Amino acid sequence: MEKTFKFDDDLTVNRLGYGTMQLTGNGVWGPVADPDNAVKVIETAIDNGVNFIDTADAYGPFYANLYLRKALQERPHNHVMVATKVGQTRQGPDIWTPTGVPAYLRQQVELNLFTLGLDHIDLLQLHRIDPTVPLADQIGVLKDMQDEGKIKHIGLSQVSVDQLKAAEKIAPIVSVQNMYNLSNRQDEDVLDYADAHHIAFIPWFPLATGKLIDNPTLTTIAQKYDASPAQIALAWLLKRSDVILPIPGTKSTDHELQNIHGADIDLSQADFDALKALAK
Ligand SMILES: NC(=O)c1ccc[n+]([C@@H]2O[C@H](COP(=O)([O-])OP(=O)(O)OC[C@H]3O[C@@H](n4cnc5c(N)ncnc54)[C@H](OP(=O)(O)O)[C@@H]3O)[C@@H](O)[C@H]2O)c1
Repeated sequence: MEKTFKFDDDLTVNRLGYGTMQLTGNGVWGPVADPDNAVKVIETAIDNGVNFIDTADAYGPFYANLYLRKALQERPHNHVMVATKVGQTRQGPDIWTPTGVPAYLRQQVELNLFTLGLDHIDLLQLHRIDPTVPLADQIGVLKDMQDEGKIKHIGLSQVSVDQLKAAEKIAPIVSVQNMYNLSNRQDEDVLDYADAHHIAFIPWFPLATGKLIDNPTLTTIAQKYDASPAQIALAWLLKRSDVILPIPGTKSTDHELQNIHGADIDLSQADFDALKALAK
């Protein structure tokens, strides 16, 4: 099992990453009560080897990026690959609308650069394809910004294999971020395509937002490895394919450390197969 994933000659990351969405929370709007804790969780991740962090200007909105900016500024000597997203408007805690108008995507890239305090974005992911805008226009503006040096790599989120292939005809696509975890593996075909083409597959909700934790099979196997169910769920993803980069989210430094150590668990094939059978 590979511990790292290579995007290009300059960007190799540890496969166990971190996602910022739970810092502010899904279905929550505005800043967190304890911003110092939010920054500390990210710093704990970086100090313990995480160098791939997923975020989006829609998280908070903006606050997750601002906490990440602070952590990056506190750790100027650690190169962290930041993967952010554009392509959704958010009009309230639970109202997300795919919006792929090129001028809007360009504005969002600029706002991500500003809120993250970066001069370029290592991985810019189109959060959702907007069905009302030609794909060539949406990927096209990202390609333009790549040519301008503002974006290093382009990725997609929540796409089918056909959509991925269509986007690849417009610009090189290095990653795809779809929902995938032990109990929801409906995008196996996208993962298999990514695996075959060395495209990073970044499963969102890798812990099923924490709902996996009470599964009896998972609990039994976790006890066998003297590990937590979350650690086993992450170890399973890491064993499933070397292109998988899990980005578990947490607002707890203890959970963050636990998740990082989950990457060290080497599941037996029998346990891997037993867990595979959990999927709906
Ligand atoms: N592309 C997309 O459309 C999309 C959509 C959703 C999410 N995402 C990305 O995917 C990332 C991961 O998703 P997520 O954070 O929503 O869900 P997740 O990683 O599946 O689960 C996070 C939940 O699990 C809990 N948790 C984390 N570590 C734990 C541990 N060791 N033991 C017990 N509970 C633990 C957290 O609670 P505590 O805070 O209490 O630890 C949190 O409630 C996001 O942060 C975001 O970057 C992308």
